[in-house]
Amino acid sequence: MTRKYLIAGNWKLNAGGAKGIELATAVAAATKGAQAEVVVAPPFTVLAAIANDLEGTHVGVAGQNLYPKDSGAFTGEISAPMLLEAGAKWVILGHSERRQYFGETDASVKDKVVAALAANLCPIACIGETLAEREAGKTLEVCFRQLDAFSAELAKRPGYGVVAYEPVWAIGTGKVATQEQAQEVHAAIRQRLAAVSAELASKTRILYGGSVKADNAAGLLGSADIDGALVGGASLDAAGFAAIVKAAPAT
Ligand code: PGA
Repeated sequence: MTRKYLIAGNWKLNAGGAKGIELATAVAAATKGAQAEVVVAPPFTVLAAIANDLEGTHVGVAGQNLYPKDSGAFTGEISAPMLLEAGAKWVILGHSERRQYFGETDASVKDKVVAALAANLCPIACIGETLAEREAGKTLEVCFRQLDAFSAELAKRPGYGVVAYEPVWAIGTGKVATQEQAQEVHAAIRQRLAAVSAELASKTRILYGGSVKADNAAGLLGSADIDGALVGGASLDAAGFAAIVKAAPAT
């Protein structure tokens, strides 16, 4: 089973206006002809404008979150159908910053995965352990608990949804997991998915995230169970992000 590499740029709380438009255009130009699939996740304020500008190009657009109701009295929230209407085809869910600062739980992440799938938005569902959990030998226990919350939902459309393994201690810290550390967890995640269904395990792309940069991308992406990257800081520079995209091996 060949899985197409996916490189997604998570802009977080950055580039929410004119700068975002400029960055998206530069990313599309710099990654033209890339073999890997390319996605950018801008802030909501600029998402529709970027999706409009990128229409017909190879670059997809993702939301960074959604609220799992289609509409109603939920001030300040954005639904899956709204993201779709704005031009997004993807959505990042359960990012560790959402879990850490905004109280997201395994249960709420599952609800969001359900809402994304119902609206035909591809979820990029994030899991990962903290440094304390890793040091306590709980890496797989934590990752499996977070994964188990939504894996049965992903199994309803094997290969449609994506899982991102992002060790919290590697996010924005410059401390990238070694190729071996990452591959070990990725292989375990794939095995865990195989317990749900063999098809789910073989078709699901598992991205690595956490301080991915142009100079460490090739090694990570060369690992058997790493099918792409979720890139934060380095996705804010079009040339650096394009270098990561180009580091994906040919499939
Ligand atoms: P980073 O962020 O690349 O800046 O470490 C990754 C992420 O949080 O998705």
